[in-house]
Amino acid sequence: MTEQRTSIHGQWSNRMAFILAATGSAVGLGNIWKFPYIAGENGGGAFVLIYLFCIAIIGIPIMMAEVMLGRRGRQSPINTMATLALEEKRPAPWSILGWMGVLAGFLILSYYSVIAGWALSYVFRTAGGMFEGATADGVSSIFAQFVSSPESLLAWHTIFMVATMIIVARGVQHGLEKAVRYLMPSLFILLIVLVFYAITTGYFNDGLSFLFSPDFSKITPDAILIAMGHAFFTLSLGMGAIMVYGSYLPKDTSIAKTSIVIAGADTLVALLAGMVIFPIVFANGLEPGAGPGLIFKTLPIAFGQMDAGILIGTLFFILLVFAAWSSAISLIEPAVAWLVENKGMNRIYASVWIGIATWIMGIGTVLSFNLWADFKPLSMFKIFENSTVFDLLDFLTANIMLPLGGLFIAVFAGWLMRERSSQDELNTSSKGYSTWQFLVRYIAPIAVMIVFLNVIGVF
Ligand code: TRP
Repeated sequence: MTEQRTSIHGQWSNRMAFILAATGSAVGLGNIWKFPYIAGENGGGAFVLIYLFCIAIIGIPIMMAEVMLGRRGRQSPINTMATLALEEKRPAPWSILGWMGVLAGFLILSYYSVIAGWALSYVFRTAGGMFEGATADGVSSIFAQFVSSPESLLAWHTIFMVATMIIVARGVQHGLEKAVRYLMPSLFILLIVLVFYAITTGYFNDGLSFLFSPDFSKITPDAILIAMGHAFFTLSLGMGAIMVYGSYLPKDTSIAKTSIVIAGADTLVALLAGMVIFPIVFANGLEPGAGPGLIFKTLPIAFGQMDAGILIGTLFFILLVFAAWSSAISLIEPAVAWLVENKGMNRIYASVWIGIATWIMGIGTVLSFNLWADFKPLSMFKIFENSTVFDLLDFLTANIMLPLGGLFIAVFAGWLMRERSSQDELNTSSKGYSTWQFLVRYIAPIAVMIVFLNVIGVF
């Protein structure tokens, strides 16, 4: 009986705990580090609009589908998909969806941890007063010098991975709830404070118009793919992270409402980050398309100039590290849950092994910013001409694997699962249900396919 199925890994204590954990997973480097830099690289407004559109018509319905599958299956994504395939009388290989998710989570965490390491190192740099009165050039060269050292990137990557493994080993429900409850709102408040600083730069309007006035002539097929990929990335969709969190969700919680709240909070944080970064970019004559270093080249200027900049800056980077941490956890939880279920491993061993493998993989990203900076493995393809190992990992996961995972989730939830099951699990009004069903059956899968087909021409 589905109704009686429970997760061996435990359950969230209540609906709020799930919202907090899922928001903790969604809000992370994707919002504050990645969103501004990809928006900057892809011309701003039009890109942002496409991203928002993807959140609304693809992200939210697929998030509902993913949470729903998780809660129905109550296991790691691999076993959840196997169980549901059986229950819905569908082919067993649907569990491949879970496998692809485990792989995607592992690859994402390998570079996510390196970038989180940057943020961690910036906690100490800011606290130490390194940016006091620094010029834009000074801040940029501090960053350039930092990433040119493989040893320091590796050291910070190591610290972050160890911290992540410790939490995962303890079980995600313990401790995480409490941390997220205070840290997320604090991060939000700090962003608002920074928006006020951005207003004082005198370039706030330039920032806003860069972010919000669409110029579609800047849009290319790969920009659309990146915007869509980011909608998946920022909401933690398409690889089972939200599915596994859904598997710990109490039965009586509304999936529709919680999904909308989570997506809304996530989007707000990203837009606020953009509203902080771009005024600083324009006020200091920086390049919006500066790439992955963008926040590290802009925010320290603000911290160096504003009153109480050391305090605010240090706090900001601390909160960013926590946001990254609560996201990182969800990237390996599906793999850990599977090892515990199928290999009878205890959580501690499972976390350590996966942590070590991820750490090793992360070395590829560490080197992408220094020794391997000119190593472009797929330069024979035009679109990957300038892509380092890090760029390729990011592209493969965020722009290919996650949307593909999302596509399969939509097809399974929308077409293959019996309506009786999905209706029972979503338990929403009939109008809500039919809207969701329409989005997940037609709009989301077709949109993903069009974007994929569109980009094939670029190769
Ligand atoms: N959403 C997180 C961020 O924006 C990253 C993340 C956590 C993620 N879990 C995920 C991305 C699962 C994709 C899939 O920083």
